[in-house]
Amino acid sequence: MKRTAVYAGSFDPLTNGHLDIIRRAAKMFDSLTVAVIVNVSKQPFLSLDERVDIIKNVTADIENVNVDCFSGLLADYVNKNGFSAVIRGLRATSDFENEIQMAQMNARLYTEGTETVFLMTDPRYSFISSSMIKEVAVLGGSVSGLIDDYTSKIIKQKLCREDAK
Ligand code: COA
Repeated sequence: MKRTAVYAGSFDPLTNGHLDIIRRAAKMFDSLTVAVIVNVSKQPFLSLDERVDIIKNVTADIENVNVDCFSGLLADYVNKNGFSAVIRGLRATSDFENEIQMAQMNARLYTEGTETVFLMTDPRYSFISSSMIKEVAVLGGSVSGLIDDYTSKIIKQKLCREDAK
C-alpha cells in the first residue's frame, strides 16, 4: 500500500521553513500533497492561484510532491483522499498546545486511521511566520534567505502593481 501524506496550510506565502518540512516529509512518504487552504477567516495577501503557482515552482525538483487546494474541514479533505498521514511542522513549544488540540480533534474525524506526523522545524526558520515575512517585505525590509527567490519575485511584482494603483 502506498504511503501518502498531506501538508496543509495557508502558505501566504510559502517560506523556507515550509519548504524544509516539505523536503523532509517527501522523503518519508511515497507521495506528498501540499494543500493550500481557501481560508475564509484569513484575508490573504497572495491569491490562491499565486500561492499554488509559487509552491509548484519552488517544489518542481521534488518528484513525489503535488499541489492541490481545498476548503472546509481538513478532516473531510483527508478522508476524501485517503491520506495515510497529515504533516505538521512544530516551530516552538508554543505551537504544541494548538497542534495537539487540533490533532486530537482531527483524529476523531478521520475515518481511515490517518496519523498526524509532527516534524521539528529547522532552527534557522523557527522564528518566522508567513505574516512576519509579509510585514517585513511590504515595509521594504530584506527577507533574503527566508523565502525562495521565485517567491520573492512574485511578492515584489505584487507590491509594484499595488503601488501603481
Ligand atoms: N516554517 C515557517 N512558518 C511556519 C511553519 C514552518 N515550518 N509552520 C507554520 N508556519 C507559520 C505559517 O506560515 C502560519 O503563519 P501565519 O499565521 O502568519 O499565516 C502560522 O505558522 C500558522 O501555521 P498553520 O497552523 O499551518 O496555519 P495555516 O493557516 O497555514 O493552516 C490549517 C492551518 C489549514 C492546517 C488549519 O487551519 C485547518 O486545518 N483548517 C481547516 C479547518 C479545520 O479543519 N478546522 C478544524 C481543525 S481541528
